[in-house]
Amino acid sequence: MRPLLTVADLGGEALAEILALSEAPGLGTPLAGKGVALVFQKPSARTRNSMEMAVVQLGGHPVYIQKEEVGLGTRETAEDVARTLACYHQLIAARVMDHRDLLAMAAATDTPVLNMLSDLSHPLQALADLLTVRQLTGRIAGAKLAYVGDGDNNVCRSLAEAASLLGAELVIASPEGYELSDRVDGVRQVRDPAEAVEGAEIVYTDVWVSMGQDAEAETRLRALAPYQVNEALMARCSDAHFLHCLPARRGEEVTADVIDGPNSAVWRQAENRMHTARGAMLWLTAAAA
Ligand code: CP
Ligand code: NVA
Repeated sequence: MRPLLTVADLGGEALAEILALSEAPGLGTPLAGKGVALVFQKPSARTRNSMEMAVVQLGGHPVYIQKEEVGLGTRETAEDVARTLACYHQLIAARVMDHRDLLAMAAATDTPVLNMLSDLSHPLQALADLLTVRQLTGRIAGAKLAYVGDGDNNVCRSLAEAASLLGAELVIASPEGYELSDRVDGVRQVRDPAEAVEGAEIVYTDVWVSMGQDAEAETRLRALAPYQVNEALMARCSDAHFLHCLPARRGEEVTADVIDGPNSAVWRQAENRMHTARGAMLWLTAAAA
């Protein structure tokens, strides 16, 4: 049984299937009487709540596990945590500091492991992002996306992989040292935010200091300051929708007038986290059956 650790692992066909499942009504309760472990090494509002409610919608029981409770890699190895949780649960979902812990967990058990965010990737976010793009523009293939800011973070990497697999056109604008470090087919990287948003239907950004990067905060804020998504930038693509995975820092990567303005679709995007979490778990449990 395959884990779901990155978008690239999934491939285009599975990605499209999950998006279809995310919007399909009445697909039953395949998790009835089953548990889903939700392990968090970092804080979360959207991921925890969307996953818990998606598990409930599928008839299952979510067990929320905080960092201190299992002590992934401290109290017990990541492998032993996974082997333990596999005794009770149909799926093991985890948000980790280090992506290698997810790989260790997935290697230790046949129970599917689902990445709820690591330093490298955030596949559940990318699923919701693409569903939102399709709802807003009517398509994914050929949709024109711009990502402005920290190009080498988990959210941008997963968005890039997803856009590439489903044929959306993504241009990433980031300063030197913050470019997406992977080469992703069909994704263009530029320096100038104005160039990235030219003709864009969707403008996306994320925080400049991700969880776990607090020690670099000052350097990051300085380097990324010219990459703020504000009204002047949005005026270059006046009909474009604004997206952000959230949480947002108003006045840093985005101004309040943009994120709270009429072209912002961040709350629809946040709601879609629940629909795509349900789609992803339906796909994982069907594949495991
Ligand atoms: N977008 C997202 O993953 O939000 P949380 O960190 O609140 O889960
Ligand atoms: N890049 C952010 C995303 C939060 C959902 C972080 O890792 O903190």
